Amino acid sequence: MIKKLNHVAIAVPDMDKAIAQYKNQLGAEVGEVKDLPDHGVTTVFVNVGNTVIELLHPLGDNSPIAKFLEKNPNGGMHHLCYEVDNINEAAQKLKADGARVLGEVKTGAHGKPVLFMHPKDFSGTLIELEEV
Ligand code: CO
Repeated sequence: MIKKLNHVAIAVPDMDKAIAQYKNQLGAEVGEVKDLPDHGVTTVFVNVGNTVIELLHPLGDNSPIAKFLEKNPNGGMHHLCYEVDNINEAAQKLKADGARVLGEVKTGAHGKPVLFMHPKDFSGTLIELEEV
């Protein structure tokens, strides 16, 4: 069902510092910073050749990233995103298997439908599925 890794997301306490590190220390290609109010995050994508790193920072009140950074003040790996052909079919199959889908299908940072799966059902890893 999953086709390939789309991105790895890292929550960062200081977006400017994280961008400067990826650009200047690691020499990576860093994209534009985007606010996603529906998700409560500011994001930027870093192209690392075979995949993409998504840097995440809290936006607004009740950001899920704010809670994550309270527990992980230095930041840390937040989720993995896998590509699927059909997000509704994937969600139905996973729900039928007893996996917990978090919320509804939303439009993600790439403008494509995304869905999150509970980390307790996936070895402690938050999984994002993106229809590509
Ligand atoms: Co993501």
